Amino acid sequence: MASNEELIGREDLDDLEAILSVSNTDVDEIQHNVRAHSDAIFTWDYESTRPALDKLYEKAKTSQWNGTTDLPWDTEVDQAALALESMVSQSRISDDADFGGTPFESWTEDQWVQLGIESQNWTLSQFMHGEQAALICTAQIVETVPWIDAKHYAATQVMDEARHVEVFSRYLDEKLSGHYPINAHLGLLLDDIISDDRWDMTYLGMQIMVEGLALAAFGFIHQMTSEPLLKKMLRYVMSDEARHVAFGVLSLKEYYQQLGAPEIRERQEFAYEAAVRMRDRFLQQEVWERMGIDPKEAMALILADEGRPLFQQMLFSKIVPNIKKLGLLDAGDGWLRRRFEELEVIQFEDWADTGEEYTALDEVAKDREAATVAS
Ligand SMILES: [Fe+2]
Ligand SMILES: [Fe+2]
Repeated sequence: MASNEELIGREDLDDLEAILSVSNTDVDEIQHNVRAHSDAIFTWDYESTRPALDKLYEKAKTSQWNGTTDLPWDTEVDQAALALESMVSQSRISDDADFGGTPFESWTEDQWVQLGIESQNWTLSQFMHGEQAALICTAQIVETVPWIDAKHYAATQVMDEARHVEVFSRYLDEKLSGHYPINAHLGLLLDDIISDDRWDMTYLGMQIMVEGLALAAFGFIHQMTSEPLLKKMLRYVMSDEARHVAFGVLSLKEYYQQLGAPEIRERQEFAYEAAVRMRDRFLQQEVWERMGIDPKEAMALILADEGRPLFQQMLFSKIVPNIKKLGLLDAGDGWLRRRFEELEVIQFEDWADTGEEYTALDEVAKDREAATVAS
């Protein structure tokens, strides 16, 4: 059985030094090439045989929205106020935390606000890069999935993801104050997802793991922020993302039923590695570097953050039920269940799975219905 050392390159999940030792080696890179190893597959069978995917495809056609005209771009955004708001709402640093001997000992209010601003720039930048990865992955799925109904649906997702890249990058450029390069851990995960030669790994990595985490993260920020433009943008992006995760669940559920035990174990290991990589990125190490602080010194602040473990766990609240629905949690003597127990995220296993909740999350349809009733 593969050990943590073999799967994630370290024995201890919480080895912060090992996590921080992985960093982005080329922050000025403009273009990043990844070689895909999968076949592009034609199918001559044009008959749809998956009503659940047809229904999702129809929904995607009617719930398209326009990033230029459907969002209130004229909203004035005061980023410092926004940073303060998010710091207050997330203020989880214990009152008796001792920063003596650390860079935070003498920090002024302005420096704390700057940290909030950088943290926002970083977070939205990672969302934007993740959206581009989703754009690339779904274009890849159009080519590699052998079923016509899945190709139809994936094509709508390509358009959705282009729109998401568009709105996140516009928000960063017009309302925030600077881009960050991709986080090293996220980048490694995305490279793995794209280069794998098995078509279903693109689905598992992107549709279930990365998009599942994004859906939870967007939901969290949507709840926390009072900024109307960001709020509406996230509501609309989440409406699309719920369909995307559903697409992954519906497709893989069928495919995994025909795989043998060794293949299923490979999928479990892939899901575990993806989970750990996404968890590793939560340290926001690039923010510390930009603020001129050795990320290792930032550990004092990271460890004083009492809400961090709970917040990190919540980000897996969409992933775990979907993994369970796919049969990956308990297959092969429950290997992945034990890994998720170690990650302390198993408590979400019976939360709603996104295969069913996407209709309820369609805020675009709700707004349109309300507008029709009003007129
Ligand atoms: Fe997206
Ligand atoms: Fe998506």
